[in-house]
Amino acid sequence: MKETVVGIIGGTHGMGRWFARLLRNDDYKVHVCGRKTRLGIDDLAGLCHVVVVAVPIAATAEVIKQVGPLMGKDSLLMDLTSIKKEPVELMLASSRADVIGCHPLFGPSLKNVRGQNVILCPARANKRWLSWLKKLLVQGGLIVTEKTPAEHDKMMAIVQVLNHLNTISLGLTLAATGIPLAEIKKFSTPIFKTKVEIIKKIFTETPGLYADIIMHNPAAGEISALYKKSLAEISALLKAGDGKRMKEVMIKKAGKLF
Ligand SMILES: NC(=O)c1ccc[n+]([C@@H]2O[C@H](COP(=O)([O-])OP(=O)(O)OC[C@H]3O[C@@H](n4cnc5c(N)ncnc54)[C@H](OP(=O)(O)O)[C@@H]3O)[C@@H](O)[C@H]2O)c1
Repeated sequence: MKETVVGIIGGTHGMGRWFARLLRNDDYKVHVCGRKTRLGIDDLAGLCHVVVVAVPIAATAEVIKQVGPLMGKDSLLMDLTSIKKEPVELMLASSRADVIGCHPLFGPSLKNVRGQNVILCPARANKRWLSWLKKLLVQGGLIVTEKTPAEHDKMMAIVQVLNHLNTISLGLTLAATGIPLAEIKKFSTPIFKTKVEIIKKIFTETPGLYADIIMHNPAAGEISALYKKSLAEISALLKAGDGKRMKEVMIKKAGKLF
């Protein structure tokens, strides 16, 4: 058993449970707590050298404020939150511990995480904790990139906010047609079937997580405005019946994108 003891608040489910498994597979002692566990946040902080906050986004600030002051100067406070600016700032403000923001860019149900991305935001990290965390993640087959919280949130506004806004608007529009999905499915193409599966996942599995990812990203307003502008541009071309221009726009943007 390795010397470093890790505590995961929110380690009983989801990403926290995934991180606990990664650590235990590497021979670390891990304590986990949730709202229903006998072990509470205060006990866990007293037992561990590293505390990881892995609770739902809406509960993250309160949990950081509770655990931050309990952490010693030589310990590490980190989180797995899908947004980084607010939690990292709060971890720095509420604790004397080293602080590293961490965002695994996949969900806990993914069977093989080898080759997946993780973003680290080292905010107050001595070499020891940063290399400890990087080694753990790289050994687990993950690709680690270091960024500031603001850089992270800006990119996640594209990869998650724009992506999920698009899926949610597609789902709302499908529902607004009033046509039962069973009927629509009889006409489905392979791409449409894939899109419906994505809408189903977002709308039925963890809708709260996706709503929080959109609402808490500081760059969400900006990307949403760009999205609205693109939709307006497409609608204007449609209204004008200008298919030639629509094709030209796509070819021009493809040249830029790919
Ligand atoms: N799911 C993903 O795909 C994904 C991917 C990357 C990052 N993340 C991030 O990971 C974090 C957790 O998300 P998740 O999807 O793993 O959530 P989840 O599956 O709902 O698990 C949340 C965990 O936190 C505990 N919890 C909830 N409220 C708490 C509180 N007030 N105090 C202490 N423990 C509490 C829950 O246990 P009890 O309910 O028993 O209290 C559970 O163990 C979020 O910050 C999210 O942004 C998620």
